[in-house]
Amino acid sequence: MSNLETLWQRGKKFLGVTHPIIAGAMTWISDSHFVSAVCNEGAFGCLAAGNMEPRLLDQEIRRTQALTDNPFAVNLITIAPHYKEHLNIAVKNKVPFIIFAGSYPRQPEIRTAKENGAKVLSFASTESLAKRLIDMGVDALILEGSEAGGHVGHVSLGILLQQVLFKVQEVPIFVAGGIATGAYIAHLLLMGAAGIQLGTLFVLTEECRAHPKFKEAFIRARARDAVATPQVGSELKVVSVRALKNKGFDRFSELQIELIQKRKKKEISHTEAQYQVENYWVGALRRAVQEGDIEYGSLMAGQSAGLVNQVKPLKDVISDLIHEAEEELKKVKARMQALLDNREGNW
Ligand SMILES: Cc1cc2nc3c(=O)[nH]c(=O)nc-3n(C[C@H](O)[C@H](O)[C@H](O)COP(=O)(O)O)c2cc1C
Repeated sequence: MSNLETLWQRGKKFLGVTHPIIAGAMTWISDSHFVSAVCNEGAFGCLAAGNMEPRLLDQEIRRTQALTDNPFAVNLITIAPHYKEHLNIAVKNKVPFIIFAGSYPRQPEIRTAKENGAKVLSFASTESLAKRLIDMGVDALILEGSEAGGHVGHVSLGILLQQVLFKVQEVPIFVAGGIATGAYIAHLLLMGAAGIQLGTLFVLTEECRAHPKFKEAFIRARARDAVATPQVGSELKVVSVRALKNKGFDRFSELQIELIQKRKKKEISHTEAQYQVENYWVGALRRAVQEGDIEYGSLMAGQSAGLVNQVKPLKDVISDLIHEAEEELKKVKARMQALLDNREGNW
């Protein structure tokens, strides 16, 4: 068995795949075409339910089932308007894995998923939340650092590893956020991750049907261009989303300043101002992904955008990650051997 095989056995068994590399759900990107392509390459795909019309989700699940025999997940946003219907559709179609995202799921929702044969994954951002979710019956956890693309927490993966990965052994833990190289994957597995989840890197695959302009923006981007949505002041709350800076970002900051000024002059209620803030990005990801509006659309991307610079076939992306991880593990082994032999290593 190769070093990598040994290290990621737990994740492999849990997901029932050849490579426990999760292509994290990406709203408007992770459709049946992309997800089945990922699964057919031996990795693990996640259908993004997002804000989808329930009937469309039903169709997309069936299409994925028709296009691949391999397991996949449906990623449900617990705060989405159709969430409850999405959950019912996922269990009705007997999807093998359900990932709860957005916020964390309630006990009855986990029970419904499990009673219908699904394994359940959920995101955890602290040790206590991880323990609570495990007590509620979650089968595996995802730790996603704030380096990631899309809706993010405020804590980087390095901290989450120390807060959760190093302390929680009961269930497999998959880690995400800023991963784009096999070398990094090797070290995350050595630290105890059961497998890994990536988003940004998978945008730059031939099988991802995002608009060419969306992909070009990723190719051009530096790591520091992928920033969390700005919040001007503390009165109006902004949900943190990591995306590539564009004109839409500037306009969003200006809007907040205008609204705060109107609030001071009592020209607008807090509810109305907050509504305008929340409404600003509605539909913006779809416009960027499908129509190529890279100026004002939402270019959700992680900081790993700075590590990727070409579109490749999925097959090559996955095999390159595996090859790099194996090479890194050989280096680690040589270092460890030097340590064991008490030789001077090249630290
Ligand atoms: C365009 C885009 C859309 C995303 N949509 C979702 C989503 O619908 N649900 C979810 O749980 N995560 C979503 N994510 C997060 C990814 O699933 C994944 O966890 C994240 O991209 C990993 O970090 P990375 O981008 O640094 O690889 C999205 C990410 C991107 C880039």
